[in-house]
Amino acid sequence: MKLKLLLSPLAKAAYFGNYLEVAHAEFLAHYPECDVRPEKLATLDYLNVELYEEELQQLSRLSFVQGIFKEEGDKLIVLNQEPGFVLPEELVYAAKYQGKTNELVTQLAINIGIVFASIREGEVPRLLDPMAGRGTTMLWALRYGMNASGIEQDRKALAGLHQHLKKQTKLLRIKHQHSQGFIGRSNKQQRGKFDQFQFADRTLRLTIGDSREAGNLTQGKRFHLLVCDLPYGIQHATTEGTRNPLPVVRECAPAWVDCLRKGGVLVLIFNSYQPARSDLMQLFVEQGLQPQDFSAPHRMSESIVRDLIIFKKI
Ligand SMILES: C[S@@+](CC[C@H](N)C(=O)[O-])C[C@H]1O[C@@H](n2cnc3c(N)ncnc32)[C@H](O)[C@@H]1O
Repeated sequence: MKLKLLLSPLAKAAYFGNYLEVAHAEFLAHYPECDVRPEKLATLDYLNVELYEEELQQLSRLSFVQGIFKEEGDKLIVLNQEPGFVLPEELVYAAKYQGKTNELVTQLAINIGIVFASIREGEVPRLLDPMAGRGTTMLWALRYGMNASGIEQDRKALAGLHQHLKKQTKLLRIKHQHSQGFIGRSNKQQRGKFDQFQFADRTLRLTIGDSREAGNLTQGKRFHLLVCDLPYGIQHATTEGTRNPLPVVRECAPAWVDCLRKGGVLVLIFNSYQPARSDLMQLFVEQGLQPQDFSAPHRMSESIVRDLIIFKKI
């Protein structure tokens, strides 16, 4: 089918002046053999592609796609394709807080992780965000039908996530169960404290603690996907008081690599001014991971060019 993929205005907000390049990169990661022709009609941007009908659901899950049209002669037919997510978008989008990772770039990171990870047919993927904040990545993972875990050092994150889910599940009448507990002994610092939410047979668990101890905090589980937006900028200054997350990532790296199962993939979203892509590359190659061919740099401001880097555990 000859298709036109309409780019969402949200993609412009997420990827700034580089939205076409990022869309192109995301598309090609999924369909490396396919020709892509960008086109602007009036104020609307499209990617023109040619693909089989069975790809429609996958296409509708690409982070930049707002709509899919089929070309028939000089007519454009809207294709009514649902992305088929298991939970409503409000779970990801309704929470607003300082330091939240953009929803689309988070979806992009998960999509690219799925492309490169080895996930058996019928297997329910497990995703870990080892620096989870209030859970944008975990909530996306849940919408994709995965089991989601997160680790976050900020104790306030538990209450933030709980409040959000309480409100949205009530508004949207979504059945779920909530429980709390500790990994290890309960303590005043709340290290190891977790909130767990059960939606049908899928689980989301956010645990408070230091990501250097990711193995203990996830009780030795192995994950198909580790997806993380590294701390950057002043609101995420690390405990060491530096804006560069490289030192903390270096200390976390052995635990993160351990948490990955064979065939699993690590996706990092980072500000390429610090750490440089080459530093992350060196760090995780030294840890035995294999870099995968993907980048999607987009300038957000004078001091931030956000990008993604992907590694696989072979
Ligand atoms: C960019 S934010 C992630 C935001 C998250 N994706 C969201 O949308 O809510 C990075 C997070 O890493 C956390 N962090 C930094 N160092 C950490 C560590 N050593 N262990 C656990 N979390 C850490 C910070 O507290 C911050 O919440």
